Formats: sequence, C-alpha cells, structure tokens
Amino acid sequence: MKYQGIIFDLDGVICHTDKYHYQAWKKLADKLGIYFDETINNRLRGVSRMESLDIILEKDSSGLTEEEKAGYAEEKNQYYREMLKEMNPDDLSDEVKDTLNQLRERGYQMAIGSSSKNAGFILERIGLKGFFDAVSDGNNITNSKPDPEVFLKAAQFLGLDPKDCLVVEDARAGLLAAVNGNMDCAAIGDAVNSELANYKLNTFKDLLNIS
Ligand code: BG6
Ligand code: MG
Repeated sequence: MKYQGIIFDLDGVICHTDKYHYQAWKKLADKLGIYFDETINNRLRGVSRMESLDIILEKDSSGLTEEEKAGYAEEKNQYYREMLKEMNPDDLSDEVKDTLNQLRERGYQMAIGSSSKNAGFILERIGLKGFFDAVSDGNNITNSKPDPEVFLKAAQFLGLDPKDCLVVEDARAGLLAAVNGNMDCAAIGDAVNSELANYKLNTFKDLLNIS
C-alpha cells in the first residue's frame, strides 16, 4: 500500500457545496454590479473567504474600507449558510459514500483538509460528522491554500508523515498546496486540467483504483 492516509478537500470533492459558494458570490456580485462568472469562480476554489472577495473586487475595489469588505464577506457567508441549512444526507452521493466506506475497509486513515470555516457544519448536514479520523479546516490555519498548512495539519492530526498521505482536490490552489507540502495529489473536476496532479480522477470512485 503506497499511502497510509488520504486527505480530502471538502467543497467540490466530497459534496457539491462549490456550487453554493458560486451562487452566494454571484448574488453578492450582482447586487454590487460587479461582473462575475464561472471562470472567475474557478479562481476562488480553495482560497479563503476574504481572498475570494479580493479576487471578485479585483476590477473594482475602489474606495472600499476593510470594514466594508468584511461586511460583504459576512453577507456572502450568510447567503451561503442559508443554502447549507437546506442540505441533508441525500446531498452526499451514493458514489462518494460507498467509496469512503470501501477506503475505510481497506484501512486508510482519512481526514478533511478544507479552507472552509463552515466545514464542520457541512459534515454535520450531509451525515458525515464523526466519520473522518481528523478534520483540518479554516478554523485551525493561518494561511490558506496554496500554502500547505491545512494539509500538513491534517497529516499531523492523523499522526502520519505528509509523504504517506494522498491529497484529493478540485482546486489548482489545493494541488499547489499538496505539492508545497511534499504530498502526492489526485485531481477531480476543474483541477484535472492542471499539470500538477499525480493522478486524474474522472469520477470519485476512481480513487479505489489508485489507492
Ligand atoms: C474552500 C472553497 O473550500 O473554502 C473556497 O473552495 C472558499 O471557495 C473557502 O472561499 C472558504 O470557505 P468559507 O466557508 O469559510 O467561506
Ligand atoms: Mg474544493
């Protein structure tokens, strides 16, 4: 067995909360009259809430105070949380659930490595609270992806050497974080277009063939 642990990004890997991030940012951007589309959204994957706002405001951040920016980030989070509240265990696909269970049976240690401060709430909503051996998220890090901190902490929480862990990511920033942390990574979704991935997954269950 090449790896002892698997560290999963959450949004866009375990569940489709990446769509809700997009919808919440879109609602805010439309309200502010700022252009925003899926291409810009792909640059927000894996980066923190405030850094995401800075990317959205890139073209027009004229005259905004830090306080106003914090207010907008909070407003987006409220739109987002309203969507998360509607989630339930049916939002975890059978494919992801079965794959996670099979990986568990194979004896892997498994952790979440997410930049989100809402990770715990999401895991609760989709019925995965307590499933992972460790959760490293936006609440226990100072630097967000592409800094490797969130994954290094996850490996540490698992008691494993980073090189014995495989990272699963849908974000280029996340793949970079894995590389920066000296870890192998598997890309899914938007990230498969990156040259940084050691493995490319067409679908989540393809993990069973590499691990
Ligand atoms: C990441 C998402 O998982 O979490 C980013 O890919 C998001 O798009 C980041 O900005 C922070 O999330 P939250 O829930 O703390 O706003
Ligand atoms: Mg993601």
